[in-house]
Amino acid sequence: MTAQNQLYLDLSRYYDQFCSDIDYAEQSEFAQRAWQCFSNSGGRAFLDLACGTGQLLKLMEDKGFSISGLDNSQEMLDQTAKRCPDATLLLSDLAEFERHHEYDLITSFLYSMHYSHPLAAFQQTLCKAYQALKPGGAFVFDAVDKNGIANDTGVVSELALDAEHLTFRSRWFYSGQGDVLDLFLSITRESNHETQTWDDHHRMTAITIPNIKQLMQQAGFETTILERDYARLSEWDGKSSNVIMVGTKPLLEV
Ligand SMILES: C[S@@+](CC[C@H](N)C(=O)[O-])C[C@H]1O[C@@H](n2cnc3c(N)ncnc32)[C@H](O)[C@@H]1O
Repeated sequence: MTAQNQLYLDLSRYYDQFCSDIDYAEQSEFAQRAWQCFSNSGGRAFLDLACGTGQLLKLMEDKGFSISGLDNSQEMLDQTAKRCPDATLLLSDLAEFERHHEYDLITSFLYSMHYSHPLAAFQQTLCKAYQALKPGGAFVFDAVDKNGIANDTGVVSELALDAEHLTFRSRWFYSGQGDVLDLFLSITRESNHETQTWDDHHRMTAITIPNIKQLMQQAGFETTILERDYARLSEWDGKSSNVIMVGTKPLLEV
């Protein structure tokens, strides 16, 4: 376990509450629509990369997909196992998993692909996802362009539990040069007599949208870029910095 994952270890118990603003139902509708539009491999085998506590997995299972989740945090996978007892769970780094022609749909949301760092690892994850898809299958993930990082104060959310109060902060920082996107996460837990704080710094991959497209094409994907709008499938306007990348593995590989 790397020091980078310490916070996800501590966070796993609270992760669902902190993500209470995320509309996983909408995300799962989107994933199903993307599968209908972009996957042509004939099955419903689904893998979520960096699956966290398995919220999307559960909803996809309810839609009739057979589900697998990958994460490099055993604590997050333990939460997933409680939520989805029938899921196949893979403890692995994003860039290191070995699966061949197994899945019809692979997703990775909440910008988790950027955890593949450095750029060579990002590229390797794309190749691993390509290898893991059946011909005709699709890989769908969200991404942010490094030139659109606001370098602002980020997002703060609060949670009141019985005897404690939790504050969760996250913000990105991009220096304007190179391929490092800094993610700063922190949790403060205040209880009757004690205040506890975790601060974590994750190095993620900073990349542009055209560069992601190029790497996907090099991996073999046919690529479509959509707006990062889970309510609908809409083509990227070429301007916004937040997108959903769709890579389809050709039925006949050249
Ligand atoms: C922001 S959470 C997103 C979880 C989930 N996709 C969601 O939308 O709720 C990021 C997840 O990525 C996992 N993670 C971070 N770096 C990883 C890596 N290099 N390989 C595999 N998983 C990783 C963390 O353990 C965490 O569960």
